[in-house]
Amino acid sequence: QDPDKAKLYEAYEFTGKLYQHILKNTEQGKQAMEYLRARGLSDKLIDTFGIGYAPSNWDTLAQLLEKRQYALPLMEKGGLLSARQEGQGYFDKFRDRIMFPICDWKGRLIAFGGRAMGDAQPKYLNSPETMLFYKSKSLYNIHLARPQIRKKQQIVLFEGYMDVIKAWEAGVTNGVATMGTSLTEEHTEIIRKQADQVIVSYDGDSAGQNAAYKSIPILEQAGFLVKIAMIPNGQDPDDYITNNGSERFVREIIDGAVPTIKYKLHYFRKNFKMQEDGEKLRYMKQALKILADVPSPIEREHYVKELSSEFHYSFDTTLQDLNEIRLQAEKSN
Ligand code: GTP
Ligand code: MN
Ligand code: MN
Ligand code: MN
Ligand code: MN
Repeated sequence: QDPDKAKLYEAYEFTGKLYQHILKNTEQGKQAMEYLRARGLSDKLIDTFGIGYAPSNWDTLAQLLEKRQYALPLMEKGGLLSARQEGQGYFDKFRDRIMFPICDWKGRLIAFGGRAMGDAQPKYLNSPETMLFYKSKSLYNIHLARPQIRKKQQIVLFEGYMDVIKAWEAGVTNGVATMGTSLTEEHTEIIRKQADQVIVSYDGDSAGQNAAYKSIPILEQAGFLVKIAMIPNGQDPDDYITNNGSERFVREIIDGAVPTIKYKLHYFRKNFKMQEDGEKLRYMKQALKILADVPSPIEREHYVKELSSEFHYSFDTTLQDLNEIRLQAEKSN
């Protein structure tokens, strides 16, 4: 193996332990500990996820790495340190941040996500891509979730660190996160071998809902059975658990995840003012176009029934319209 890589793994492990120690056992970590408590994380949960704190000094880590004879240029390349703009030397990349370790599937630490506690920007500072860390291939928590993912043949996909952690405590131990980047085909390759089913549980705000919508074709093309967990009022999974409790999160949001067709019908709905007849008709047309792609006749019938009764059209007329759309689509293919 590449000796630089081996050194970098070692340095990450050392750094992770250092940040954990500073959080749990030092005066410097006190405020961070209070922050985590206020967000509802127990000591046990903090340990399970190896959460730590990077102190606000400029060079706590840089000095310790130097003392242990790590090559500092390598540490900079590896995303732990930054080079000084003026003069020589290095300083810590992460300062005054809550540190979430990111591991590969074997549990080796390969990167960090660092959250600011106050209003410092960016809210999350993530490690850059390095020889250990490829964003489009990494999923937060894959190492801890893997056994349960394989057992249930199901994976729950979240946006962020806090969602994964709070869901874990709620009993959803097959959850991973894409960490704010959009889902890639490379991500799906990693998880496809582990599970048949995916539940997408992104944030309830419009960014999260758009991302969920975009993830559908990627996941379906990879061969997953996909369901979407819908969260009301712009909350994210972490908010929902805090506001409504673990039991309701599992029962209503995760177990209540809907098939992608149902989600698509819902997703487009917000663009139409249903009180107006013209808008209602335009929505029907859009909805029937979505249904036209559904391969199963039974499934099509199911949604035609729902749509026609909700909008007070006859079942037969609605089905007729749908079949015409399907015919036209066939012709143009
Ligand atoms: P909390 O406010 O701590 O609950 O975070 P969140 O997880 O709800 O954050 P958000 O929904 O805004 O973002 C989801 C995920 O995207 C985060 O967990 C991060 O992994 C990532 N992310 C969010 N903000 C930033 C940012 O400013 N920079 C980068 N690089 N990533 C971010
Ligand atoms: Mn954000
Ligand atoms: Mn978000
Ligand atoms: Mn969020
Ligand atoms: Mn959140």
